[in-house]
Amino acid sequence: MTTHICPITETSLEEAKQMLLRGGTVAFPTETVYGLGADARSDEAVRSIYAIKGRPSDNPLIVHVHKDYALNSLVFDDMPYAKKLRDAFLPGPLTLVYRSKGAVSKIVSCGLDTLAVRVPKHEGAQRFLRYVDLPVAAPSANRSKHISPVTAQHVYGDLAGSVPLILDGGACSGGIESTVCDVTGPYPVILREGLVTREQIERVAGRCDVYHSREGEQVRSPGMKYKHYAPHCRTVLFAPDELEHAVSYFSDREKNGERVLALCEHAVLQNFPKGKALDLGKNGEEFAANLYVLLHEAEERCDELIAVEPAERGGVMAGVLNRLRKACGAKQ
Ligand code: TXA
Ligand code: MG
Repeated sequence: MTTHICPITETSLEEAKQMLLRGGTVAFPTETVYGLGADARSDEAVRSIYAIKGRPSDNPLIVHVHKDYALNSLVFDDMPYAKKLRDAFLPGPLTLVYRSKGAVSKIVSCGLDTLAVRVPKHEGAQRFLRYVDLPVAAPSANRSKHISPVTAQHVYGDLAGSVPLILDGGACSGGIESTVCDVTGPYPVILREGLVTREQIERVAGRCDVYHSREGEQVRSPGMKYKHYAPHCRTVLFAPDELEHAVSYFSDREKNGERVLALCEHAVLQNFPKGKALDLGKNGEEFAANLYVLLHEAEERCDELIAVEPAERGGVMAGVLNRLRKACGAKQ
């Protein structure tokens, strides 16, 4: 199969629609990462997403819809605070998990009685979703366990030959995946941290917990138990107060003749040799926007990436650190 990268135009949108109606897949941009979309109503189409990604069959998918799509055709929306969250954050990088009405393929939610729904803010995503006017099941458009794609070229790198069409909407501005939040209970519970923060949700809903799975317990967001977001190079991660250790580790490796790069926040960049440190930026939003771009760059340019956690905490840092730690090999 040949893979075409196309700008978002009437012609490519029509092509995308025909592709989805035939049970095929189309990659499209969002404000977080690129998605690999298929018609959520079709078992065959949804199955092909799992096959293309090599995704474990117990990791459910998010359904994407445009902002005027009739939500109540897909889910029971019984919690008053959920409406407040939608009014405050949607369209945007917040995925809400509702009780499902069973209107889409069971394979989307891997047999769970819930459905995750996302209304992306990205203009190209909205145009695409409005044009096809379908519930579009879409995970991130990367091979399972690899870094999520934030450009059309990243998608091409992972999925060329497996997906016929990549709609190119430029680089994703947010940089890490949406916050996944369960709205089936008396108050919201974050299952995956992301660009909409616990603090922001708490301000709107009054209370918001973050779910942490305990040993032996069935996980509520199955995706969180898998290794994720990893570049192909070796990685090692140092805490902010281990900077000196990271610098000497870096120079030892370099003396050994290995191709190494550092990844750190702007404030500590000058501790590493010029041109050998990738700059994550100056605050949480910048770290999020730059993380996957730099992980993709690192795997092209080095054998080992020596990362130092930024010191900032709170807000979007929960999501940033979760992704950075997973990229560097942590399980949770
Ligand atoms: O920003 C994003 O959310 C991107 C773009 C493409 O929209 N999508 C994305 O999808 O990150 P994916 O498949 O890589 O991650 C989906 C996450 C997983 O952690 C999965 O377990 C969780 O959402 N999830 C999906 N449906 C769920 C459900 N019914 N209950 C609990 N968790 C669910
Ligand atoms: Mg993913």
